[in-house]
Amino acid sequence: MKYLGSALAIAAPLLAIPAQAQSSAKDTNTPTIVAQGSAPKVSAFITDGNGRTLYTLGDDKESKANCDAACMQHWQPYLTTTRPVARLVLPGLIDTIEHNGKRQVTYRGNPLYLFDGDTKPGDMNGKDFSSAAYMVSVLGEIEKPLPAMADAGPVLAEVMEHGKEVFASTCAMCHGAQGQGAFGTKLAGFDRLANTPDLLRTVVLGLNSMPAQGPLLSDDQIAAVTTYVRNSWGNEFGAVSVEQVKAAR
Ligand code: HEC
Repeated sequence: MKYLGSALAIAAPLLAIPAQAQSSAKDTNTPTIVAQGSAPKVSAFITDGNGRTLYTLGDDKESKANCDAACMQHWQPYLTTTRPVARLVLPGLIDTIEHNGKRQVTYRGNPLYLFDGDTKPGDMNGKDFSSAAYMVSVLGEIEKPLPAMADAGPVLAEVMEHGKEVFASTCAMCHGAQGQGAFGTKLAGFDRLANTPDLLRTVVLGLNSMPAQGPLLSDDQIAAVTTYVRNSWGNEFGAVSVEQVKAAR
């Protein structure tokens, strides 16, 4: 499994470029590849000029696009007739290949697609739709999913109590004392909490403007606080174990 830690070094200076420079990447007929914020394990990933996530598909091997008609009902090959423009990404990694008589843009040999279930910038729904869809880092590496996690067992009262304390001291200032949301996402009734690997990646590594909590909290504290948010304010998503936290570090 390849975690894209190495992308960090390059991503940081790239992302330091003022927002103004980034937003000048406007939609034209010329395909534009842009580096965007962070996603779990991909510190800066690529999007089109409108901020829509570009994916590569696991069925595409050795720079060959295998997405057939059924596949293309959801995955739109990122096509071009001209030379694609690079913004904040490595221009040398951009190329094109032939796909059904058209030119499809590739990034480090990965044929690129848009997903029809992504409607606005920042959407990454393609990953939930297909486990073979990957986001692509600025370095052209693809995000690999974490391995499936073992069952964490029952929700214990003492763990919930511990988690409540950690939440109050660490998370409530951004997420609201009742998980109602503030600067941070509303966590009451937030279905994505069901996804343990994603939740742990968010808490351990941070996500966009949410700072990484991994360096600040112990495995016990993270297991307790994630168990707490998954089982409070009407949420019922089950426990998170210390072993799962260790696996996500
Ligand atoms: C400094 C403010 C801040 C703190 C502290 C903070 N968060 Fe967040 N959190 C955010 C913001 C902002 C987002 C939205 C990030 C985004 O989607 O771009 C977020 C998003 C999340 C999400 C949703 C991720 C997703 O899948 O969209 C979860 C879950 C979460 N935080 C849990 C926690 C927990 C648990 C803690 C405490 C251990 C915590 N956060 C501490 C600001 C914070």
